[in-house]
Amino acid sequence: MISLRIDDTPVQAQPGQTILDAAREAGIRIPTLCHLEALCPVGACRLCLVEIRNWNGRLVPACATPAQEGLDVVAHSDRLAEVRRTVLELLFAERNHICAFCVSNGHCELQDLATELGMDHVSFPYRFPALRVDVSHAKYGLDHNRCVLCGRCVRACADVEGAFTWGFAGRGVHTLVEADLGEPWGTSRTCTGCGKCVQACPTGALFEKGKATAEQEKRPEVLAEITERRPRA
Ligand code: SF4
Ligand code: SF4
Ligand code: FES
Repeated sequence: MISLRIDDTPVQAQPGQTILDAAREAGIRIPTLCHLEALCPVGACRLCLVEIRNWNGRLVPACATPAQEGLDVVAHSDRLAEVRRTVLELLFAERNHICAFCVSNGHCELQDLATELGMDHVSFPYRFPALRVDVSHAKYGLDHNRCVLCGRCVRACADVEGAFTWGFAGRGVHTLVEADLGEPWGTSRTCTGCGKCVQACPTGALFEKGKATAEQEKRPEVLAEITERRPRA
C-alpha cells in the first residue's frame, strides 16, 4: 500500500494506481477531459494538473502520474484554478466551440468544465479555422471544428473495439483525427459501426445522425462497463 497526501488528507493507493485514482477513491474531485476509465491514460489535455509540494511545486497530470510514497499533492488552489481555466480558454480559442450551435449543447464535457471552473471569457485571439465535417458514415458524423484532440475516440476504437480505425494526422494545431489514414469515415473498411468512439467523445465532434440536440447524451462509462464484463485471460 502507498501512503500519500492529497489536499492535506492522508490517502492510500495500490501499486499501479495514479494520483487521479487515489483522489477519486478518496472522494476528491480533479477535473479531467482526455482521461476515461478503461482507456490507457495519455496526459494530453492537462486539465487534471496537480501541484506536488515536495517536488518544488512541480505541476504534473494526475491521470498519468503514478501514486508514490510520501507525495504531498495539492489538487485545489488558486494557482491550479488559474492554470485549468487557461487550458480551457486555449481549447475554446483554438477551434469553434460556439456551444449554442453545437449538436452537443447541454451534453458536452468541455462545456460542463467551463461552467465548473468559472471560465467566463477567452483571453486569447480566436483561431477558428474552417474545418471539414464528415457525414459520410451511415450512422455517425465527425465535426473537426468541435474536436479537442483528446484521443478518446482513437483509444476507444483501438483498446476496446480492437478496430484501430482512428488515428491522428498532422502536427500541433493542424492535427486532425482521421479514419483509415484519411479516407472518408463512411468508406472505412475497418469500422464496425459499433459507436464506441461516439460514446467516448466528450464534445460534439463525434455525434449520432438523426438525433436532436436534446437526444445527443452520451454514455462514456459504457466503455468501462464493457471492459469490466469481459472475461479475464
Ligand atoms: S464506430 Fe466503432 S469501429 Fe467505427 S470508428 Fe467508432 S469505435 Fe471504431
Ligand atoms: S473526435 Fe472527440 S474523442 Fe476524438 S479526439 Fe476529437 S474530441 Fe476527442
Ligand atoms: S485528464 Fe489528465 S491530462 Fe487530460
